[in-house]
Amino acid sequence: MARERKENQTNPVSLITLVDPSSPVSEQYRTIRTNLQFASSADQRLQTIVITSSGPGEGKSTTSANLAVVFAKSGQRVLLVDADMRKPTVYKTFQLSNHSGLSTVLSTGTSVREVAQETTIPNLTVLTSGPKPPNPSELLGSVRMDQVITEVKGLYDIVIFDMPPVVAVTDAQIMSSKVDGTLLVIRENVTKKEDAMKAKELLSLVQARMLGVVYNGAEQSKDQGYYYYSS
Ligand SMILES: Nc1ncnc2c1ncn2[C@@H]1O[C@H](COP(=O)(O)OP(=O)(O)OP(=O)(O)O)[C@@H](O)[C@H]1O
Ligand SMILES: [Mg+2]
Repeated sequence: MARERKENQTNPVSLITLVDPSSPVSEQYRTIRTNLQFASSADQRLQTIVITSSGPGEGKSTTSANLAVVFAKSGQRVLLVDADMRKPTVYKTFQLSNHSGLSTVLSTGTSVREVAQETTIPNLTVLTSGPKPPNPSELLGSVRMDQVITEVKGLYDIVIFDMPPVVAVTDAQIMSSKVDGTLLVIRENVTKKEDAMKAKELLSLVQARMLGVVYNGAEQSKDQGYYYYSS
């Protein structure tokens, strides 16, 4: 099963927007940022965003982390939340401790303010996943999660939630119903059309506000793809 998600085999993702900000891929991330900023209006504010995809390894965490970087670089206060408590990677990408994080906030009532960690990038704060809980879906679906969303909306301009794949587990569906909008990542040569359709169907079932699709393109060199956004 090549598409199976292998637990405990997670790697940091490439922060091209940090290491090569003038590359075409980084420019694409800035274009996505601009498009999202235009999608935000007075009556439909876009402050909390879920990033998901149909299956594993399609670029959810890469997209989440790089978008968080470009939003932070534009001067907005950004919180990147590793809401993939099953297969977390954000703490590795930003070289942070995962001793406590989202699972801690949800299961103990500790505030985000106490647990979130500053990164070396100005304006970019990260809430790592925290220790792996036995019941991620229940935690995300809890009333406590609603309180957490209210808290972070008061603290940050943009909050990005890196999620597990939507076809595999229900976590991204749950979160999509709670946030302002959802981005679906599709990876060239990996995402099957029927899986992408299934993902869209699962998200519309919970009345997710679909912001568009991030097309994670073909591999050009070792870890550089290209990105294309369409709404
Ligand atoms: N366009 C691309 N070209 C080359 N490598 C890529 C591209 N996009 C992502 N990757 C690499 O593929 C791997 C999976 O990417 P990433 O972790 O972002 O996916 P994911 O959807 O979050 O996966 P998971 O389902 O495991 O959470 C990573 O090693 C990442 O660096
Ligand atoms: Mg991921």
